[in-house]
Amino acid sequence: MLSTTGALPRKILWLCWKRRDGRLRLRTSSHGAILLRRGMSRPEFARLLSCVEEVNLPWAKFAAVLMLGCARLTLEHTGAPYETAEHDLGLASANLVFEATARGLAVHQMIHIHRDLARRLYQIPEGVKPVAGLAVGYAGGGERLPDALRKEDLTRHPRKPLDAFVFSGSWAQASSLVAK
Ligand SMILES: Cc1cc2nc3c(=O)[nH]c(=O)nc-3n(C[C@H](O)[C@H](O)[C@H](O)COP(=O)(O)O)c2cc1C
Repeated sequence: MLSTTGALPRKILWLCWKRRDGRLRLRTSSHGAILLRRGMSRPEFARLLSCVEEVNLPWAKFAAVLMLGCARLTLEHTGAPYETAEHDLGLASANLVFEATARGLAVHQMIHIHRDLARRLYQIPEGVKPVAGLAVGYAGGGERLPDALRKEDLTRHPRKPLDAFVFSGSWAQASSLVAK
């Protein structure tokens, strides 16, 4: 699901290809996870923005493009469970982040969204899970953010050491490949 404050910025169009039915789709190999439509109006943008939790509004309300990444949890043709649906959506989103970043855009991903509201507003069926929001735009210097968020935004977050999540043999046993 996608909404914009106006015409899609040209750079974002590079992330998409046009389907025969006129809808835009991301250039990814996702399992139909993120659908895009262009040229949405301001009320449409406000509708999708209402699905974003308050904590994310300082970024989302200024985004050029808002998206809602949804994972189809069953195979379209057989209805069988599609076990890697969320993984696929993550890959699709990561591709979008890389491509957008390479083109000078910034992407803020959002776990804090109102999923039930999104379901109701967009008639998202059972078997499709709204997973994460994505706000795409040009990064600012943080001047429009409240002080606390600006500080947080400018802070470099430490990374976990590899041995905290690369395991061999059994769960939680650090792999000798990465053990210190
Ligand atoms: C899928 C996903 C969802 C996220 N959801 C939120 C969110 O709702 N709100 C938020 O402030 N940050 C959220 N983040 C984290 C920020 O976007 C984070 O600053 C960004 O991933 C950069 O990480 P870093 O600061 O550790 O480099 C999320 C990250 C990911 C990957």
